[in-house]
Amino acid sequence: MAPTQDAIYAELDADLSWSERDLPERERTKHVHRLHPYLGKFIPQLVEELFRRHVPGGGRVLDPFAGSGTTLVQALESGLDATGVDIAAFNCLLMEVKTRQYNLFSLEHDLRDALTRFERGEGRAGRAPRYVQEWFAIDAAKELLRFRSLVNDYEHADVLRIVLARAARSARLTTHFDLDFPRTPQREPYWCHKHRRECKPVGHAARFVRRYTLDTLVRLKTFAHVRTRHVVEIMHGDALEVELGGQFDAVVTSPPYPGLIDYHEQHRYAYELLGLDDRRERELGAAAAGTSRAALAAYADGIAAVLERSAALLRADAPLLVVVNDRRDLYPEILERAGLRLEGRHRRHVNRRTGRRAGEYFEDVLIARG
Ligand SMILES: C[S@@+](CC[C@H](N)C(=O)[O-])C[C@H]1O[C@@H](n2cnc3c(N)ncnc32)[C@H](O)[C@@H]1O
Repeated sequence: MAPTQDAIYAELDADLSWSERDLPERERTKHVHRLHPYLGKFIPQLVEELFRRHVPGGGRVLDPFAGSGTTLVQALESGLDATGVDIAAFNCLLMEVKTRQYNLFSLEHDLRDALTRFERGEGRAGRAPRYVQEWFAIDAAKELLRFRSLVNDYEHADVLRIVLARAARSARLTTHFDLDFPRTPQREPYWCHKHRRECKPVGHAARFVRRYTLDTLVRLKTFAHVRTRHVVEIMHGDALEVELGGQFDAVVTSPPYPGLIDYHEQHRYAYELLGLDDRRERELGAAAAGTSRAALAAYADGIAAVLERSAALLRADAPLLVVVNDRRDLYPEILERAGLRLEGRHRRHVNRRTGRRAGEYFEDVLIARG
């Protein structure tokens, strides 16, 4: 007899639980995975192993909550086609830049030319918008706005936009230990928990523009040498509504979890500087919505509906894999409501997370089928 959903207990899967020594940060953030910080992603090696186990014949995978694009990038590396959906415009821009196929010669020309002109003092800062005045020192604001004014001159403007966003993130008036969700601008020197000394807020952005332009070039070139020419499709929209065509051989996803992260807010500087469309009211499980009973019920409704829609696109008997730290035990019911049968639950020991939330942490890989 098949086990019931309740009888599926999580088993620790040692092969999915890498230690820091097995898998150092350098590997977890290899090539394009570190084009821009993103809080709440899964690691490429996990996705790689899930593909190896569950989609051994290759094919096409869907990630309805694609985030920074780990599933898509890994699909290209592992030789699969992939479709990713995300409600956050910045995440979609980041995924586009990571997965596009470049003419490396013209990419290098654009990035180096933009940097040279920027360092010569070209570009116009114009008047700083309110957010920029508030969150950046005067010189940093001028430098970022000047770089922004150059970006549109290039075919690879989107790559330069990611460089701009990353430089802005580093140049904000924040403490070093609160880069994820800073509350108020830090204008004075402060005691830094991270470096255990007094640190000063950043005054300039130019060195970040230089560092990240060159780093982005290296990362995109490195990825170009390991990727396949498989097809990636990125859809900016609500996974409850986007029209997806065709059939898939697997769904691999890590949905947002209620009350943890505001996915638009974590890249607020990018929305402000790049004028991106903000659809935060459509985010499922946003931290801002809280964890009241009503919020959890709305979350479960939304995730169940997305998983049901995704499962309907799966070829017969293909797997739907959900990576989640389900500490509220919401998922057995969510899967059931999505018409899915939970057939396995692998627990993995997440060795280390980045940022101040560091610590012991487990997450599960739920294996379900329609
Ligand atoms: C846990 S993250 C996924 C991270 C991804 N696995 C990675 O490695 O980068 C969840 C994502 O779901 C997105 N999201 C939230 N609500 C959504 C919705 N209604 N439709 C599509 N995406 C949504 C968020 O913007 C966020 O990027």
